[in-house]
Amino acid sequence: MEEKPVDKELILKELANFQSQDCKYSEGRILGSMCTEAHPFAKEVFCKFLDSNLGDPGLFKGTKSIEDKVINSIGKMFSLDNAYGNIVTGGTEANIMAIRAARNHAKKYKNISNGEIILPRSAHFSFKKAADMLNLKIVEANLDDNFKIDVNSVEEKISDKTVAIVGIAGTTELGLIDPIDKLSDIALENNIYLHVDAAFGGFSIPFLKRLGYKFPDFDFSLPGVCSMTVDPHKMGLAPIPAGGIIFRKEEYLDVMAINSPYLTVKKQSTIVGTRLGASTAATYAIMKYFGKEGYTKIARNLMDNTIFFKEELKKLGYKLIVEPELNLVSFNHPDMDTKQLANELESRNWRVSTSSCPVAIRVVLMNHIKKEHLKELLKDLKEIY
Ligand SMILES: Cc1ncc(COP(=O)(O)O)c(C=O)c1O
Repeated sequence: MEEKPVDKELILKELANFQSQDCKYSEGRILGSMCTEAHPFAKEVFCKFLDSNLGDPGLFKGTKSIEDKVINSIGKMFSLDNAYGNIVTGGTEANIMAIRAARNHAKKYKNISNGEIILPRSAHFSFKKAADMLNLKIVEANLDDNFKIDVNSVEEKISDKTVAIVGIAGTTELGLIDPIDKLSDIALENNIYLHVDAAFGGFSIPFLKRLGYKFPDFDFSLPGVCSMTVDPHKMGLAPIPAGGIIFRKEEYLDVMAINSPYLTVKKQSTIVGTRLGASTAATYAIMKYFGKEGYTKIARNLMDNTIFFKEELKKLGYKLIVEPELNLVSFNHPDMDTKQLANELESRNWRVSTSSCPVAIRVVLMNHIKKEHLKELLKDLKEIY
């Protein structure tokens, strides 16, 4: 830190210089991010709540009421009338909370220690962090030929140490939805906690269903589902950081509660202590602003772009890894190594992401990727071919 105060203008100039080195969503060149530019209205609301601390909700009763309302509203999106949970920093924190709830619940009611969690190989790496922090062993379930969790493999891997099964509604690498209905049956039969990670798919699947897309049930309408992750900062267009964790029952929050003696509320279940009210207010505002109708339009537009892109890729001769279920297209050149293809695209100034299982180029058709950007990308892909 400098000894003497620095002039505001100088600080802003320096910061602008740093910021100019960042990629900009609006250029449409970021192909692999699951985040995007937040809606201006959500940003405006975010700035109004920068001082609200939901870690001490007795002091910020209004903002806490907003959180209760927004959790309720997200719960209803997922067929749950009385939802419990929090707006947190993102899918990672939401998944860690879910696994912590499952672990503590199994410890309390089944006396399981040194527990295990069953995950598909396609699960996001946040579960590795959760397992590491919570001292749990990961047991990986196989994927079937369509890269979805193999439910037989899940059944085989259940043991008397299993504290949770995880299914994904919108996988990070391929955007696929696991057969959550079957996982729900297995979880109920074996009395095991089931968590659904809909960090990516949560703000599109319910709206695509309204458009007639046929997806099997994936939410709290299935009695085995205990919790769900959903990220407003992905297709919800809320500013980062905004993740959501929704629990079916309050007891899942209770088993995580830690005494917080000096605060206005005597127990805290979240991982984070001091936490942003701004994310909650912005999420609430943007959900009201769009409503189901607005999000349905966004979901339709993203899928239109997805379908356009994957069809054009096929015409060029590129090979899709799977037919997309959500707004994510994964593909390879029939002969060229994925790394080489990624390098070719990077050299043409695209910000490329590759998946690991299987190795492929992965394009997430977020709001910032418009038709004109896709046309430019296809032009480059044609040249590279
Ligand atoms: C399915 C899934 N879960 C969890 C996460 C982690 O979310 P975040 O990066 O917001 O912590 C992601 C991120 O892309 C994801 O795709």
